[in-house]
Amino acid sequence: MRRALTIAFGGLALAGGFAAPALSGDPEEGRKIANMCQTCHGKDGYARIPLAPHIGGEPKDYLEAQLMAFKTGAREHEMMSVVTASLSAQQISDVSAWYAAHTATATLPDGVSSEDAPDACVSCHGADGISTLLDAPNLAGEVNIYIDTQLKAFRNGVRKHEIMSEISADLTDKEIRALADWYANVTLEIVAVE
Ligand code: HEC
Ligand code: HEC
Repeated sequence: MRRALTIAFGGLALAGGFAAPALSGDPEEGRKIANMCQTCHGKDGYARIPLAPHIGGEPKDYLEAQLMAFKTGAREHEMMSVVTASLSAQQISDVSAWYAAHTATATLPDGVSSEDAPDACVSCHGADGISTLLDAPNLAGEVNIYIDTQLKAFRNGVRKHEIMSEISADLTDKEIRALADWYANVTLEIVAVE
Protein backbone atom coordinates (compact mmCIF):
# COMPACT_ATOMS: atom_id res chain seq x y z
CA MET A 1 0.00 0.00 0.00
CA ARG A 2 2.76 2.37 0.95
CA ARG A 3 4.68 1.56 -2.20
CA ALA A 4 1.61 1.89 -4.40
CA LEU A 5 0.84 5.28 -2.89
CA THR A 6 4.37 6.52 -3.34
CA ILE A 7 4.34 5.51 -6.97
CA ALA A 8 0.91 7.05 -7.56
CA PHE A 9 1.92 10.32 -5.94
CA GLY A 10 5.31 10.29 -7.61
CA GLY A 11 3.73 9.93 -11.02
CA LEU A 12 1.21 12.67 -10.37
CA ALA A 13 3.86 14.92 -8.91
CA LEU A 14 5.92 14.61 -12.09
CA ALA A 15 2.90 15.08 -14.31
CA GLY A 16 1.85 18.17 -12.37
CA GLY A 17 5.34 19.56 -12.22
CA PHE A 18 5.35 19.83 -8.42
CA ALA A 19 8.38 19.13 -6.27
CA ALA A 20 8.31 15.75 -4.57
CA PRO A 21 7.51 15.90 -0.84
CA ALA A 22 10.57 16.38 1.31
CA LEU A 23 9.85 13.40 3.55
CA SER A 24 8.18 10.13 2.78
CA GLY A 25 5.57 9.55 5.45
CA ASP A 26 4.79 6.18 6.97
CA PRO A 27 1.01 5.77 7.29
CA GLU A 28 1.38 3.05 9.95
CA GLU A 29 3.33 5.43 12.20
CA GLY A 30 0.78 8.07 11.31
CA ARG A 31 -2.08 5.84 12.45
CA LYS A 32 -0.77 6.08 16.03
CA ILE A 33 -0.28 9.84 15.85
CA ALA A 34 -3.87 10.18 14.61
CA ASN A 35 -5.01 9.25 18.14
CA MET A 36 -4.20 12.90 18.93
CA CYS A 37 -6.47 14.11 16.16
CA GLN A 38 -9.48 11.83 16.33
CA THR A 39 -11.68 13.78 18.73
CA CYS A 40 -11.85 16.56 16.16
CA HIS A 41 -11.04 15.00 12.76
CA GLY A 42 -12.00 11.36 13.37
CA LYS A 43 -9.56 8.53 12.91
CA ASP A 44 -10.53 8.37 9.21
CA GLY A 45 -10.50 12.13 8.70
CA TYR A 46 -14.28 12.61 8.73
CA ALA A 47 -14.63 15.54 11.14
CA ARG A 48 -16.39 14.98 14.46
CA ILE A 49 -16.88 18.67 15.32
CA PRO A 50 -18.34 21.30 12.97
CA LEU A 51 -15.36 23.66 13.36
CA ALA A 52 -12.86 21.11 12.10
CA PRO A 53 -12.54 20.28 8.40
CA HIS A 54 -12.72 16.79 6.90
CA ILE A 55 -9.18 15.73 6.01
CA GLY A 56 -9.48 12.01 5.12
CA GLY A 57 -8.42 11.22 1.56
CA GLU A 58 -6.91 14.66 0.92
CA PRO A 59 -3.57 14.89 -0.90
CA LYS A 60 -0.63 14.19 1.42
CA ASP A 61 1.30 17.18 0.12
CA TYR A 62 -1.53 19.52 1.01
CA LEU A 63 -1.99 18.10 4.52
CA GLU A 64 1.73 18.16 5.22
CA ALA A 65 2.10 21.74 3.96
CA GLN A 66 -0.78 22.94 6.17
CA LEU A 67 0.52 21.19 9.26
CA MET A 68 3.98 22.70 8.70
CA ALA A 69 2.32 26.10 8.19
CA PHE A 70 0.53 25.78 11.55
CA LYS A 71 3.78 24.64 13.19
CA THR A 72 5.81 27.57 11.84
CA GLY A 73 3.04 30.12 12.42
CA ALA A 74 2.53 30.86 8.71
CA ARG A 75 -1.10 29.76 9.27
CA GLU A 76 -2.57 30.44 12.68
CA HIS A 77 -5.26 28.68 14.64
CA GLU A 78 -5.34 28.30 18.40
CA MET A 79 -6.05 24.54 18.38
CA MET A 80 -3.85 23.52 15.45
CA SER A 81 -0.91 25.67 16.52
CA VAL A 82 -0.85 23.80 19.84
CA VAL A 83 -1.29 20.38 18.22
CA THR A 84 1.53 20.85 15.71
CA ALA A 85 3.99 22.41 18.17
CA SER A 86 4.65 18.97 19.68
CA LEU A 87 5.08 17.14 16.33
CA SER A 88 8.34 16.70 14.42
CA ALA A 89 8.48 17.16 10.64
CA GLN A 90 8.69 13.36 10.30
CA GLN A 91 5.60 12.85 12.49
CA ILE A 92 3.76 15.46 10.43
CA SER A 93 4.69 13.59 7.27
CA ASP A 94 3.58 10.28 8.83
CA VAL A 95 0.20 11.54 10.02
CA SER A 96 -0.36 13.24 6.64
CA ALA A 97 0.33 9.91 4.92
CA TRP A 98 -2.19 8.24 7.25
CA TYR A 99 -5.00 10.68 6.49
CA ALA A 100 -4.16 10.73 2.78
CA ALA A 101 -4.42 6.92 2.61
CA HIS A 102 -8.23 6.95 3.00
CA THR A 103 -10.51 7.37 0.01
CA ALA A 104 -12.83 10.35 -0.29
CA THR A 105 -15.77 10.31 -2.69
CA ALA A 106 -18.29 13.05 -3.32
CA THR A 107 -21.88 13.05 -4.55
CA LEU A 108 -23.75 16.12 -5.75
CA PRO A 109 -27.25 16.61 -4.32
CA ASP A 110 -30.16 15.09 -6.28
CA GLY A 111 -31.17 17.23 -9.21
CA VAL A 112 -27.97 19.31 -9.15
CA SER A 113 -25.76 19.26 -12.25
CA SER A 114 -21.98 19.62 -12.22
CA GLU A 115 -22.45 22.17 -15.01
CA ASP A 116 -23.75 24.61 -12.43
CA ALA A 117 -20.57 24.36 -10.35
CA PRO A 118 -18.63 27.61 -9.88
CA ASP A 119 -16.49 28.05 -13.03
CA ALA A 120 -13.72 29.84 -11.16
CA CYS A 121 -13.06 26.85 -8.89
CA VAL A 122 -13.61 23.62 -10.79
CA SER A 123 -10.21 23.37 -12.48
CA CYS A 124 -8.53 22.86 -9.11
CA HIS A 125 -11.25 21.82 -6.63
CA GLY A 126 -13.49 19.89 -9.03
CA ALA A 127 -17.22 20.42 -9.53
CA ASP A 128 -17.86 18.09 -6.57
CA GLY A 129 -15.08 19.44 -4.36
CA ILE A 130 -12.56 16.65 -4.85
CA SER A 131 -9.20 18.27 -5.53
CA THR A 132 -7.53 17.78 -8.88
CA LEU A 133 -4.13 18.97 -7.57
CA LEU A 134 -1.67 17.59 -5.05
CA ASP A 135 -1.39 20.91 -3.25
CA ALA A 136 -5.08 21.84 -3.14
CA PRO A 137 -7.66 20.62 -0.59
CA ASN A 138 -10.96 18.86 -1.11
CA LEU A 139 -13.89 21.15 -0.34
CA ALA A 140 -16.64 18.52 -0.61
CA GLY A 141 -18.97 18.45 2.37
CA GLU A 142 -17.02 20.93 4.49
CA VAL A 143 -19.31 23.01 6.71
CA ASN A 144 -20.17 26.23 4.83
CA ILE A 145 -18.87 28.37 7.68
CA TYR A 146 -15.45 26.71 7.42
CA ILE A 147 -15.20 27.44 3.67
CA ASP A 148 -16.57 30.95 4.21
CA THR A 149 -14.03 31.65 6.96
CA GLN A 150 -11.07 30.41 4.90
CA LEU A 151 -12.06 32.47 1.84
CA LYS A 152 -12.36 35.57 4.01
CA ALA A 153 -8.99 34.78 5.60
CA PHE A 154 -7.42 34.66 2.11
CA ARG A 155 -9.25 37.86 1.14
CA ASN A 156 -8.09 39.82 4.18
CA GLY A 157 -4.55 38.41 4.13
CA VAL A 158 -4.69 36.44 7.40
CA ARG A 159 -4.07 33.30 5.31
CA LYS A 160 -1.81 33.72 2.30
CA HIS A 161 -1.46 31.74 -0.91
CA GLU A 162 -0.54 33.16 -4.30
CA ILE A 163 -3.51 31.63 -6.12
CA MET A 164 -6.19 31.79 -3.43
CA SER A 165 -5.31 35.31 -2.27
CA GLU A 166 -5.82 36.56 -5.80
CA ILE A 167 -9.00 34.55 -6.41
CA SER A 168 -10.64 35.73 -3.20
CA ALA A 169 -9.52 39.37 -3.44
CA ASP A 170 -12.57 40.61 -5.32
CA LEU A 171 -15.23 38.27 -3.96
CA THR A 172 -18.11 39.84 -2.04
CA ASP A 173 -19.45 38.30 1.18
CA LYS A 174 -22.49 37.17 -0.76
CA GLU A 175 -20.43 35.47 -3.46
CA ILE A 176 -18.29 33.79 -0.81
CA ARG A 177 -21.39 32.41 0.89
CA ALA A 178 -22.77 31.07 -2.41
CA LEU A 179 -19.45 29.32 -3.18
CA ALA A 180 -19.30 27.90 0.35
CA ASP A 181 -22.87 26.63 0.05
CA TRP A 182 -22.15 24.91 -3.27
CA TYR A 183 -19.37 22.80 -1.81
CA ALA A 184 -21.03 22.34 1.60
CA ASN A 185 -24.08 20.82 -0.08
CA VAL A 186 -22.02 18.00 -1.59
CA THR A 187 -22.20 14.71 0.31
CA LEU A 188 -18.75 13.46 1.28
CA GLU A 189 -18.04 9.83 2.05
CA ILE A 190 -14.73 8.63 3.42
CA VAL A 191 -13.86 4.97 3.17
CA ALA A 192 -11.18 4.20 5.73
CA VAL A 193 -8.05 2.28 4.79
CA GLU A 194 -7.78 -1.15 6.48
C1 HEC B 1 -9.20 20.21 19.33
C2 HEC B 1 -9.58 19.89 17.96
C3 HEC B 1 -8.48 19.53 16.98
C4 HEC B 1 -7.47 18.57 17.12
C5 HEC B 1 -7.18 17.71 18.33
C6 HEC B 1 -6.78 18.55 15.85
N1 HEC B 1 -7.34 19.44 14.99
FE1 HEC B 1 -6.74 19.82 13.06
N2 HEC B 1 -8.07 21.34 12.92
C7 HEC B 1 -8.96 21.71 13.91
C8 HEC B 1 -9.66 22.90 13.48
C9 HEC B 1 -10.74 23.64 14.28
C10 HEC B 1 -9.15 23.23 12.20
C11 HEC B 1 -9.54 24.43 11.31
C12 HEC B 1 -8.49 25.50 11.47
C13 HEC B 1 -8.87 26.79 10.82
O1 HEC B 1 -10.03 27.19 10.92
O2 HEC B 1 -7.99 27.40 10.20
C14 HEC B 1 -8.15 22.22 11.88
C15 HEC B 1 -7.43 22.19 10.69
C16 HEC B 1 -6.58 21.16 10.33
C17 HEC B 1 -5.94 21.02 9.04
C18 HEC B 1 -6.09 21.96 7.85
C19 HEC B 1 -7.08 21.32 6.91
C20 HEC B 1 -7.40 22.12 5.71
O3 HEC B 1 -8.29 21.68 4.96
O4 HEC B 1 -6.79 23.16 5.46
C21 HEC B 1 -5.21 19.87 9.08
C22 HEC B 1 -4.37 19.29 7.96
C23 HEC B 1 -5.37 19.30 10.40
N3 HEC B 1 -6.21 20.12 11.13
C24 HEC B 1 -4.79 18.13 10.82
C25 HEC B 1 -4.78 17.69 12.14
C26 HEC B 1 -3.98 16.57 12.62
C27 HEC B 1 -3.11 15.70 11.75
C28 HEC B 1 -4.21 16.49 13.98
C29 HEC B 1 -3.57 15.52 14.95
C30 HEC B 1 -2.11 15.47 14.95
C31 HEC B 1 -5.18 17.51 14.32
N4 HEC B 1 -5.49 18.23 13.19
C32 HEC B 1 -5.71 17.71 15.58
C33 HEC B 1 -9.17 21.07 15.11
C34 HEC B 1 -8.36 20.07 15.64
C1 HEC C 1 -5.62 27.33 -9.82
C2 HEC C 1 -6.10 26.46 -8.75
C3 HEC C 1 -7.19 26.95 -7.83
C4 HEC C 1 -8.39 27.56 -8.15
C5 HEC C 1 -8.88 27.96 -9.53
C6 HEC C 1 -9.11 27.72 -6.90
N1 HEC C 1 -8.37 27.23 -5.86
FE1 HEC C 1 -8.92 27.19 -3.91
N2 HEC C 1 -7.13 26.42 -3.40
C7 HEC C 1 -6.11 26.12 -4.29
C8 HEC C 1 -4.92 25.75 -3.56
C9 HEC C 1 -3.57 25.37 -4.15
C10 HEC C 1 -5.26 25.82 -2.18
C11 HEC C 1 -4.35 25.56 -0.98
C12 HEC C 1 -3.93 26.90 -0.40
C13 HEC C 1 -2.91 26.79 0.69
O1 HEC C 1 -1.95 26.04 0.55
O2 HEC C 1 -3.09 27.49 1.72
C14 HEC C 1 -6.66 26.22 -2.13
C15 HEC C 1 -7.39 26.39 -0.95
C16 HEC C 1 -8.72 26.72 -0.89
C17 HEC C 1 -9.52 26.77 0.31
C18 HEC C 1 -9.05 26.41 1.71
C19 HEC C 1 -9.72 25.10 2.08
C20 HEC C 1 -9.25 24.45 3.35
O3 HEC C 1 -9.49 23.25 3.49
O4 HEC C 1 -8.65 25.11 4.19
C21 HEC C 1 -10.76 27.15 -0.05
C22 HEC C 1 -11.97 27.34 0.85
C23 HEC C 1 -10.76 27.34 -1.48
N3 HEC C 1 -9.50 27.08 -1.97
C24 HEC C 1 -11.87 27.71 -2.22
C25 HEC C 1 -11.83 28.01 -3.58
C26 HEC C 1 -12.96 28.53 -4.31
C27 HEC C 1 -14.34 28.75 -3.72
C28 HEC C 1 -12.54 28.72 -5.58
C29 HEC C 1 -13.31 29.34 -6.74
C30 HEC C 1 -13.80 30.70 -6.50
C31 HEC C 1 -11.14 28.30 -5.66
N4 HEC C 1 -10.75 27.90 -4.41
C32 HEC C 1 -10.36 28.31 -6.80
C33 HEC C 1 -6.18 26.18 -5.66
C34 HEC C 1 -7.20 26.75 -6.38
